[in-house]
Amino acid sequence: MKLNIAVLPGDGIGPEVTNQAVKALKAIASEFDHNFKFVYADVGAVAIDKQNNPLPDETLDLCKTSDAILFGSIGHPKYDNDPSAKVRPEQGLLKLRKELGLFANIRPVKAYETLLDKSPLKKNIIQGTDISIYRELTGGIYFGEKSLSEDGNVASDLCEYSREEIERIAHLAFKSAQSRKHKVTLVDKANVLESSRLWRRVVTEVAKQYKDVTLDFLFVDNAAMQMILNPKQFDVILTENMFGDIISDEASVIGGSIGLLASASVGDKYAMFEPIHGSYPQATGKGIANPIASILSAAMLLVHFGLHTEAELIKIGVEKSLKLNISTPDINTKYDNITTSKVGDFIEDFINNPKDTNMNFTNIHLGQSTII
Ligand code: IPM
Ligand code: MG
Repeated sequence: MKLNIAVLPGDGIGPEVTNQAVKALKAIASEFDHNFKFVYADVGAVAIDKQNNPLPDETLDLCKTSDAILFGSIGHPKYDNDPSAKVRPEQGLLKLRKELGLFANIRPVKAYETLLDKSPLKKNIIQGTDISIYRELTGGIYFGEKSLSEDGNVASDLCEYSREEIERIAHLAFKSAQSRKHKVTLVDKANVLESSRLWRRVVTEVAKQYKDVTLDFLFVDNAAMQMILNPKQFDVILTENMFGDIISDEASVIGGSIGLLASASVGDKYAMFEPIHGSYPQATGKGIANPIASILSAAMLLVHFGLHTEAELIKIGVEKSLKLNISTPDINTKYDNITTSKVGDFIEDFINNPKDTNMNFTNIHLGQSTII
């Protein structure tokens, strides 16, 4: 298959982790005879520094003419601590999502058997957790009208949703549940918010077309608690933009590290793949950033194009790396010298030699392999 992939590494650890995902995709291309072409462009703080624009026109054009986008992360502390900043890196990402119509953000959350002890939550609580979060991505309070009074003392952000915006993501969530455990949980705040009551009405109507899927509802405050108390009760979680942002960071604790959570953002025309973590500025350039979320985002890209065997190979490589402690310090209690790129090298090597890795595994344990 021929794919043109736009690579937007962004800020902080974005470039380091994205490099590992590109390495994995290149290995897949050579192993399976695909033709993947990668073209790089700036986004976020790096783009502001160069062009005073977090999403330059050429970046947007490149995304629109590519088959898929691989995104790193954006954000820089110099903007976080300056509430008066007129341009912010995050605007680049939000504009990209809006311009490309990426209305559904899919965030899988899984408790890996080998990492059960790494989560601060008890093993018996998280074991077997397998959730798919469907977060609405181009509406709600993120994109509603904003205002600040002239004296700067009153501010507002409007949370607005239309029936159509709710329906289109609801259909995706129900379809996904049909190939999973046949359950959708709508997370909202319908006891307080009018927009949430619209979500309940519309999603209840959509559910009638999916008789084999059970629909239930949870208020977001309760959902936040249930996620920690009993995450196994969830299959597909459907929710609006900001609740999804918050709840997916919370859910990352189940896996043991936010550095493991991948995501796909899809619309009618375009698709973008990005780790859910941010730019982690303190870790930039230190080789400690976990590349797994980015590598698994690359696997989601492959699934999007129907390349299931290829995606599965990446996932097996990831699981092997976790099992053998070829992982970064956020989840590694055994070795303290495994860097971001070494994890990438291991997975690349596994893709190139899926059947011929036993010797390497021994070496890795002894610390003598070329990988370590
Ligand atoms: C995410 C991030 C973004 C969001 C930020 C960087 C704007 O937190 O993708 O979850 O809030 O959507
Ligand atoms: Mg977030």
